[in-house]
Amino acid sequence: MYRTHTCGELNINNIGEKVILSGWIQKMRDKGKMIWVDLRDRYGITQIILEDGVTDSKIFENVRSAGREYVVQISGEVIKRFSVNPNIPTGEVEIKISEFKILNKSETPPFTIEDETDGGDEIRMKYRYLDLRRNPLKENLMLRHKITQETRVFLDSKAFMEVETPYLIKSTPEGARDFIVPSRMNQGQFYALPQSPQTFKQLLMISGYDKYFQIVKCFRDEDLRADRQPEFTQIDCEMSFVHQDDILNNFEAMTKHLFKKVKGIDITEKFQQMPYSEAMSKYGSDKPDLRFDMQINELSEIVKNKGFVVFDKAEYIGGICAKGCATYSRKQLDALTTFVKTPQVGATGLVYAKYNEDGSFKSSVDKFFNAEELTKWAKATGAEKGDLILILAGNKNKTLSALSDLRLEMANRLGLKDNTVFAPLWVVDFPLLEWDEESERFHAMHHPFTSPKAEDFDLLETKPGEVRANAYDLVINGVEIGGGSIRIHDNKMQKLMFKHLGFTDEEAENQFGFLLNAFKYGAPPHGGIALGLDRLVSLFAGLESIRDVIAFPKNNSGRDVMIDSPSQVAKEQLDDLNLKLKS
Ligand code: AMO
Repeated sequence: MYRTHTCGELNINNIGEKVILSGWIQKMRDKGKMIWVDLRDRYGITQIILEDGVTDSKIFENVRSAGREYVVQISGEVIKRFSVNPNIPTGEVEIKISEFKILNKSETPPFTIEDETDGGDEIRMKYRYLDLRRNPLKENLMLRHKITQETRVFLDSKAFMEVETPYLIKSTPEGARDFIVPSRMNQGQFYALPQSPQTFKQLLMISGYDKYFQIVKCFRDEDLRADRQPEFTQIDCEMSFVHQDDILNNFEAMTKHLFKKVKGIDITEKFQQMPYSEAMSKYGSDKPDLRFDMQINELSEIVKNKGFVVFDKAEYIGGICAKGCATYSRKQLDALTTFVKTPQVGATGLVYAKYNEDGSFKSSVDKFFNAEELTKWAKATGAEKGDLILILAGNKNKTLSALSDLRLEMANRLGLKDNTVFAPLWVVDFPLLEWDEESERFHAMHHPFTSPKAEDFDLLETKPGEVRANAYDLVINGVEIGGGSIRIHDNKMQKLMFKHLGFTDEEAENQFGFLLNAFKYGAPPHGGIALGLDRLVSLFAGLESIRDVIAFPKNNSGRDVMIDSPSQVAKEQLDDLNLKLKS
């Protein structure tokens, strides 16, 4: 028997028991006549004690020959600890050792396996299996486990059925590049890894499985960010005979269930629903962070035609009010100007107006705007004495997006992003189509299977950019947690949509013939949603990046530095596939 107990379970009730523990040596304190060893496993740490005159000298010798991260087995008696450690559940006891065995040696690890480690990012990624021994990562993975278990409990209780769908498929149109896999048996042909199981879950609706879910890996070859990995996990769901509200209600209930069961947080009020157009005009973003207010206000009307050419020629001028920031120094304002001018934010400059405590104004455009004018700015942005008004001007969409970035930056500076507060909302009524400057044509904003709102249908021919979709996103604290839509379930309508997206009949048939065909055989009305599991876990964990909630993630260049992938393959493998690399 390797162990009678884990390293996390012994306490005052076990005193006097003879136990066997196995685990890793976390650390050793050797005071000559006494040695204390912290023995660690997944469940916790138990202190082992060796005492001169009590413990066999051979054991002293053996323990001293072991080092950090050695895997060892110890036997002994549970005794009351002299100096109690109130920070750990086993802190009132220790084990008086009577037998010691090294099960396996360890080289000195490349970084300390402690909560606060000395290892940098790259080295910890290379030795991810060691990093996973540390508490913070272990807790994230346990949180992930709990969320997936509770998701299954909830969905099962609502009669959802978990069905697996294939990974070697044909391209799915979620907007990113596909990862492709060459086929040996069908030379010259390729599978694509699914960007999501979208078409399969719709086919399952046609099969009559009216409530489907799957906790599933998805693959997208896109540029990586803190909240994007090339392979990530979705809680993917689809339902038949539903309207948008049925889906929102069901997944709002699931989100509340997860908050309650996993975080112990009771969210009783209904999630706010905000149209996309309102999210964009008030927050400059389709995923507004509602933990704080700081709304964007359009100022075009009141600031134009006063001789300030930047405003006069701008399509749009908008501002936010930063509470209590009228005391900002020149240096702080310069830093904000530099921030808005970074290529990621993309503004050309920043105009500010301080509404001082004494009621006076000081702005960067005093030459053009007097106190009376600036009072109007204050009114429009809700600024009071002591506040700072920050204004950007330019192309409407770009300026709104830059204002959104500035709003989030100010929230960071003001400490408004409290990660113990959760502000969920549904963003609804997304546009069906989105203009793509590069290809100069419309793309589906969500995906081509999303249905247009019936009342906007006529606009499809005349003003396609104005057609709204039956599409929705779940947003929490500025993170897009999930997205979905009510689908088209009619063959003719789907064909029409492909036409509007610039597919020829032949292209549509080639790529999605199977779905168009399936729609001929009694497709029920249906819709669904997919939540990003990694994002949900990192939100619950209070983390910005999803990397630390994934056991084996890729780095920012899409590499797994631990297994050194991607990597070259042998010439024979390429020959089998009838592939030849360009030089
Ligand atoms: P969508 O593309 O919006 O919808 O994806 C759903 C959710 O998946 C998460 N997500 C990601 N998470 C980590 N890394 C990525 N690269 C990544 N990309 C997306 C987000 C997102 O909200 N088939 C549709 C769903 C549907 O219509 O039912 C789909 O995949 O949290």
